[in-house]
Amino acid sequence: MRLVGKIAIVTGGGSGIGGAIAVGLAAEGATVAIAEISPAAGEETVAAIRSAGGNAWCSVFDATNQAAVNAFVEDVHHRSGQIDILVNTVGGIVKRGTILECDEQSWDETFNRNVKSTFYACRAVLPHMLARKYGSIVTMGSAAGLASRRRLSAYTAAKGAIISLTRQMAVDFGLEGVRVNCIASGPVLTKRSREKYDKDPALHKRRANEQLLGRTGEPKDVAGMVVFLASDESSWITGHVFPVDGGSTAGQGADR
Ligand SMILES: NC(=O)c1ccc[n+]([C@@H]2O[C@H](COP(=O)([O-])OP(=O)(O)OC[C@H]3O[C@@H](n4cnc5c(N)ncnc54)[C@H](O)[C@@H]3O)[C@@H](O)[C@H]2O)c1
Repeated sequence: MRLVGKIAIVTGGGSGIGGAIAVGLAAEGATVAIAEISPAAGEETVAAIRSAGGNAWCSVFDATNQAAVNAFVEDVHHRSGQIDILVNTVGGIVKRGTILECDEQSWDETFNRNVKSTFYACRAVLPHMLARKYGSIVTMGSAAGLASRRRLSAYTAAKGAIISLTRQMAVDFGLEGVRVNCIASGPVLTKRSREKYDKDPALHKRRANEQLLGRTGEPKDVAGMVVFLASDESSWITGHVFPVDGGSTAGQGADR
């Protein structure tokens, strides 16, 4: 087990990619504090971790609220005495469209959900990591933040900002023992995306065909890379963006 004795925070850790990351970190021995807006999702993941013999708890709040994020991080530190790992997964697409179709409200909401939630959590956790000169932060970009897709302007811009912020934090805090890396995920089958693909199987087939490996991802495909980046196995790796995307940003999938 690679994370015994570590304390990890996962925002959005109740379901989807964040849920698999919380389960993956706990399976390696970390105690996981989940930040969730959905009590049901949070409790489901906590129950899954505990029934597998792991340690986790969930706090319910909105990760785009800075005061709530600060209070949560202080509570985690008060309970545990340390914070070793932060994984920010809160984010997602608010509205599709070109920049001409993107109104100010959806632009702001996209940036709040993706970038500000990352900014708030990192800002709250960093002082605790710097005090111990130890920590690993993993942010959630997207393959779409590396290779833009049609009509996704606010989202790709927000994920681009997360990638830049990741590199900036790695530059600023590397000498103080804190590593910061980013995951650029391709399309992953979560409960939400499954519902979308169930309504439009042709879209799912197109997405799968875009991947060099011919399939969309599973949340655990992303969790494996996050566990590696959270652990000391990656202790000489910082400031990088890791595509976990079935190869889609490496080249075009074959026609099938
Ligand atoms: N699913 C994909 O195909 C995919 C692809 C690339 C990148 N990503 C990125 O991965 C991250 C996770 O995506 P997902 O598809 O697993 O999401 P999801 O919607 O399946 O799960 C997100 C979880 O976060 C919680 N959450 C949402 N808003 C919150 C808030 N304000 N505060 C606290 N908790 C909140 C939800 O309740 C849910 O449990 C996002 O940043 C997304 O942009 C996803």
